[in-house]
Amino acid sequence: MHVWAVANQKGGVGKTTSVVTLGGLLADRGHQVLLLDLDPHGSLTSYFKYDPDNVEKSAYELFQHRQMPEDLPASLLLDTGHDRLKIMAASTALATLERQASGKGGQGLVVSKALAMLWNRFDYVLIDSPPVLGLLMINALAACQQLIVPVQTEFLAIKGLERMMRTLRMVNKARKHDLPYAVVPTLYDRRAQASVQSLRLLRNTYGDSIWHGMVPVDTKFREASVAGMPASMLDPNSRGVHAYSVLLKFLLDRQNERHRLDAEGAVL
Ligand SMILES: Nc1ncnc2c1ncn2[C@@H]1O[C@H](COP(=O)(O)OP(=O)(O)OP(=O)(O)O)[C@@H](O)[C@H]1O
Ligand SMILES: [Mg+2]
Repeated sequence: MHVWAVANQKGGVGKTTSVVTLGGLLADRGHQVLLLDLDPHGSLTSYFKYDPDNVEKSAYELFQHRQMPEDLPASLLLDTGHDRLKIMAASTALATLERQASGKGGQGLVVSKALAMLWNRFDYVLIDSPPVLGLLMINALAACQQLIVPVQTEFLAIKGLERMMRTLRMVNKARKHDLPYAVVPTLYDRRAQASVQSLRLLRNTYGDSIWHGMVPVDTKFREASVAGMPASMLDPNSRGVHAYSVLLKFLLDRQNERHRLDAEGAVL
């Protein structure tokens, strides 16, 4: 099982859209995919027409047990309308966990434990992380093997990205190996000077860690969210879907390369 988290402390940069679109493309390719909503706002949950205020089964349940029952994570899976794509919803109650976080230790690995119980069930898990640094983001970053950081191509968003990078450095101090990450330029409008200039700045600043493509502004994403399906189901030939396919190939190539290096390291 491969676990990817999508996170950025800046809101509205395309995190949820990236989770749905990449997840849809992986499912289209025959993989079993889980989309995990850890954002108390529940945009990913709403995307698939579940109500975060009333949803019965949600990731909140994972945090309610001192000893997590082995069958709990599987019992929380919901359908999306795509055969190979499941969702674990966010309920608004998740927000109360963020507030409790400072007082309660030892809950940083709850999501890692839950995913371990689903290890044979899914090929890929994509986590939609909230835009605030708290217990839920820490859980997402602890559970994943790769981090995807969407960033809107405009200057304020680039400032926000610096905050996410500080968070990542802090998390890396607690990990054995640094978490691989990829910065993903989104909402790119080639007619806007701000987009063109900030893309250049991003590429200069993030060198090897940035995907050298970009996701264009494409109204198909909004249509797909209204329809409650991944954009590739609605219009596989749209420009936006094409961009995410290229991004997916980049992420898979990098993942394969890391596995190859790990295998070599094990032999030597
Ligand atoms: N490439 C794109 N082209 C056009 N619209 C987009 C694109 N990416 C995202 N959007 C739209 O922009 C809005 C914000 O995107 P999204 O919800 O994915 O961001 P987010 O980072 O998850 O936001 P939040 O921090 O609020 O969770 C949504 O209405 C979405 O449909
Ligand atoms: Mg979101």
